Amino acid sequence: MKKFAVIGNPINHSLSPQIHSEFARQYSIDLLYEKILADDDKAFASIIQNLMDKGYSGVNVTLPFKICAAKISTTKTSEVDLTRSANTLSFNNNAIEAHTTDGIGLVNDLLEKIGTLANSSILLLGAGGAANAVISSILSEKISNLYLWNRTIQKSFDMTQNWQKNYENISVMDHIDLDKIDIVINATSAGIMDTASSPISLNDSHKDLICYDMMYGKQTPFLKSARENNLTLFDGLGMLVKQAAASFEIWHEVKVESKSIEESLRSILI
Ligand code: ATR
Repeated sequence: MKKFAVIGNPINHSLSPQIHSEFARQYSIDLLYEKILADDDKAFASIIQNLMDKGYSGVNVTLPFKICAAKISTTKTSEVDLTRSANTLSFNNNAIEAHTTDGIGLVNDLLEKIGTLANSSILLLGAGGAANAVISSILSEKISNLYLWNRTIQKSFDMTQNWQKNYENISVMDHIDLDKIDIVINATSAGIMDTASSPISLNDSHKDLICYDMMYGKQTPFLKSARENNLTLFDGLGMLVKQAAASFEIWHEVKVESKSIEESLRSILI
C-alpha cells in the first residue's frame, strides 16, 4: 500500500483525503491518505522527515507551509523556483522533490469552464501566497495581459517587478478599469470573514465579465457581488479538485477523471 498525507494548519476541513481516495478508486490503487496537523515550520520539517523514515511516498502541503515546503526540498521544478511555493512533495530515497500544482489546477479549471484563455485580459486580485502561486501558470497560457491589483497596492508593484524578469505581459492596475478585463480572479482572503466586502466593486462591470474566486465552500462577498450583478461566476472547488488531480498524476503517473468528483463534493458542500 502506498502512503500519503496532507499537512497544514488548520487541516480538519481538508477534502484532499476524499479526493485522492476517489482518484485511487478509478485505478484500483491501494492507498492510505491521512490529514496531519503541524504547529509550525519546525514541526512541519520534522513531520516530513518522520514520514520519509516510515516509507511514505509523498505529501500535499497546504497553508501555511507551502513556502517552507519549497525551502526544505532537495529538488524543485522551475515553477516552484519562480513561485517559491510547493504543494506536492514526492519522497525518493530520503530526497524531497517539490512541485506546485495550484496554478495548473486553476488554469485547467478555467479551461474546462470557459474553453480558452487565449487573448484574454485577466485581473488577479491579491498579493499573498495564493496569488503568487498561480501567476506563472496563468502567464504560460497565451493570454493577452495579466493585471495585478491588491488592497495594499505597493505589494502589486513589487510582485510585478519580480515577475517582469520572466514575463512581459504583466502589469499593475492601480485604478480598477473592468472594461479592459475578461476574467477577474479573486485570490484575496477577503471572504474568510463574513463581514468583509468584495475587494473591488463589480457594479460597473460589463455584462460578459467572468468572475472566479479561488475560495470554495462558502459564498464570498466577491461572488455574492458577482451574482447580484448577474455575472458569470465560479468558485474554487474545481481548482481544488484539479490541483489534486495534478498531484495524483505526478505521484501515480496516470490521468484521472475529476469532473464527477467536483460535482459530488459540490452536492455535499452546498
Ligand atoms: P494567502 O497566502 O492566502 O494569499 P495572505 O498572504 O495573508 O494569504 O494574503 C492575503 C491577501 O488578501 C492579501 O493580498 C491581502 O491584502 P493586503 O496585502 O492589503 O493585506 C488580501 N486581503 C485580505 N483581506 C482583504 C480585504 N478585506 N479586502 C481586500 N483584500 C484583502
